[in-house]
Amino acid sequence: MAELISGKVVSAACREKIKREVDAFKTERGYAPGLAVILVGNNPASEVYVRNKHKACLEVGITSYQIELPEETTEEELLKKIDELNGDACVHGILVQLPLPKHISEERIIEAISPKKDVDAFHPVNVGKITVGNYQFLPCTPAGIIELLDFYNVDVSGKSCAVIGRSNIVGKPMMLLLTEKNGTVTLCHSRTKNLSQITKSADILVVAIGKPKFVTADMVKDGAVVIDVGINRLPDGKLSGDVDFEGVEKKASMITPVPGGVGPMTITMLLRNTLTAAKQK
Ligand code: GUN
Repeated sequence: MAELISGKVVSAACREKIKREVDAFKTERGYAPGLAVILVGNNPASEVYVRNKHKACLEVGITSYQIELPEETTEEELLKKIDELNGDACVHGILVQLPLPKHISEERIIEAISPKKDVDAFHPVNVGKITVGNYQFLPCTPAGIIELLDFYNVDVSGKSCAVIGRSNIVGKPMMLLLTEKNGTVTLCHSRTKNLSQITKSADILVVAIGKPKFVTADMVKDGAVVIDVGINRLPDGKLSGDVDFEGVEKKASMITPVPGGVGPMTITMLLRNTLTAAKQK
């Protein structure tokens, strides 16, 4: 049976450390780090995420500014809001919750956020910095995965790594971070041929495709470390990852559960990025 990689345990340890650093920051500077989170419209999943981000900020002493805008907000109005926040000295981090309503260009919005306040690390300037290995912020989910691997002493160097999913938020940056740790990475996606052949040779497998139980035991190498980024709601209301946990845990040496694996780390890394942004000022 695989050892569980607990995002709850690692996240609690990281948040305690962040809280201590925020306390020290406040004592030194006389103000708190501030994060502005913008939510446009009423996507129920986004509402839950934004609420959790707000709660997490309060827990560690970061000031959270919640900005809720109606679905019919125009791109121009949103750009104006971002411009205001870019110039607001109390706001060190800005996060626009995705997805945005269809009439707003995510690309234009992301590019409008000051790279210095881009705590998601989605701005092309920050993506470029990550590519060359000289960055201030890492995108929260891949950064959380690296923290998990470090905490459980998973050595990436020289290992064969497979990432399934090539999103800008998870898959692509994950490929870069594993490469930086000297892993040999194959980035797989919907057009990949012989997917099982690639995943079966991977010592470290990261799955982020949003398809419940997509990775089954026969696709996994004996003793592999399996990281499941998926959070899918099944018809019976239960949550499932992108990995068939029951089958794969018998074959892997380590595995993240869903929930309680990667999920808790993502918000923790957002808190860390916000503190980093405030310190740079
Ligand atoms: N929607 C889903 N994940 C994320 C994230 O990490 N950041 C933002 N801004 N929106 C998201």
